[in-house]
Amino acid sequence: MEYFVNPKSKIQNPKSNMAAPNIETIVSLSKRRGFVFPASEIYGGLGSSWDYGSLGVELANNIKNAWWRWLVYERDDIEGLDSSIIQNRLVWKYSGHETTFSDPLVDCRACKGRFRLDKLQDSQCPKHSSVHAGESDECDFTEPKQFNLMFKTTVGAVSADDDENALAYLRPETAQGIFINFKNVLDTSRRKLPFGIAQIGKSFRNEVTPGNFIFRTREFEQMEMEYFCRPEDAPRIHQEFIDGFQEWFQSLGISSENLKLYEQTPEELAHYAERTVDILYRYFPEREDEDKQWDELMGIANRTDFDLKTHSKKPETGGKRINPDSTEDLSYFDEATKERFYPYVIEPAAGVNRLLLAVLMDAYTEKTNDKGETRVILKLKPELAPIKVAVLPLAKNKPEIVSLAKQIKKDLQPAMRAVYDDTGGIGKLYARQDEIGTPFCVTVDHESLEDNAVTVRDRDSWAQERIKISELKEHLRKRLRK
Ligand code: GAP
Repeated sequence: MEYFVNPKSKIQNPKSNMAAPNIETIVSLSKRRGFVFPASEIYGGLGSSWDYGSLGVELANNIKNAWWRWLVYERDDIEGLDSSIIQNRLVWKYSGHETTFSDPLVDCRACKGRFRLDKLQDSQCPKHSSVHAGESDECDFTEPKQFNLMFKTTVGAVSADDDENALAYLRPETAQGIFINFKNVLDTSRRKLPFGIAQIGKSFRNEVTPGNFIFRTREFEQMEMEYFCRPEDAPRIHQEFIDGFQEWFQSLGISSENLKLYEQTPEELAHYAERTVDILYRYFPEREDEDKQWDELMGIANRTDFDLKTHSKKPETGGKRINPDSTEDLSYFDEATKERFYPYVIEPAAGVNRLLLAVLMDAYTEKTNDKGETRVILKLKPELAPIKVAVLPLAKNKPEIVSLAKQIKKDLQPAMRAVYDDTGGIGKLYARQDEIGTPFCVTVDHESLEDNAVTVRDRDSWAQERIKISELKEHLRKRLRK
């Protein structure tokens, strides 16, 4: 078997050699096969917005379901939540986002471009396309100024210009919706520490330099879990989630060679964090400099007791109110030790879109046949594959074969995402399914009418097996679970 190997790749691991050579390869596959399209394309697009097509929405749903299943169903210490995107503005005042959620901006007097000072490497110089912002002798930057990333909106039939009380924000993270519901969930679920609350949903950031396809966008989806625990247990639990998430990513088919950890320095830590470790993915394997091949897939933070304290009305010491606007105390009473305290929070926070990009890049392979023809095979884990099985008739002009194939698809569909396709020769149909990662193709031929059996073809090995139609669903179910 020959696999396409990125000539610039320094990775020795054979699994890594199967990854996409760059993000552009995935952009083109996504557009060609209906994973992701540029948003508002017929009006010229909108820079950083992307729409998910029929395969993209299935893949994203499968990723979210896998995350939810792993955390909420397979563990017994995590509850789910779905909080509002638009909250009372005070949430963002006390979380610190109104004052601190900003990026440093610089304007260039020479090219008139505007850049994020800490991400100059991510921006091309508009005047000299071969260099990054800041690399040309002509670059002449203004002093940096802070730019708040929250999208503003108004609530009700008033304008924020007329009435400041109408001002609201689209949430920049799902996490705060969890903190402000801590007591609701605690009271209704009757949980005891330690326990977590998980949430998946859209977040919005008016990023200064969005880019790299779906890697950094202004509208994106997060999968966040806030795990509440006793302060002394926080370092251990933090480490357990760092280890656990690396394993989970690998269980989704991502090669360990394309994952690495990054420990944030004290200068990089958010004001609320005691320790944060990012899990990086090799999104830019084509870059010569190994250090520049990596970027953040997720962050796992020890947020201390900052969030529950900051949203609490309770006096901390000496009768001084921590928060004069809140009506609730978010402290926790431990029945066993008779202590009242603010739990620490461990937060694993991942982006759906960044994980989807990593999954696509890692699953991407090219295979060359004896005639020198190269085809794309997307080696997605069956759990994540948008379509699990394609039913293909070998003779589309034979009505009995077509109707048997359609019936088989119909019978499989309630158990797994199945499609029927007769719009090409069998080679073309196989290639089409390989390219979108369908683990199995089922072909119905003349013999099927006699022996009530079909051929099941495996995407990765191309091995074929004859299976009785009556046993097909169970056969596929078993193999999909692997
Ligand atoms: N509550 C903590 C928090 O939001 P973050 O590191 O800012 O932490 C968590 O975001 C994850 O959300 C990131 O690791 C990334 O996967 C995703 N993310 C953040 N900003 C993004 C953006 N502009 N576009 C796409 N994904 C983004």
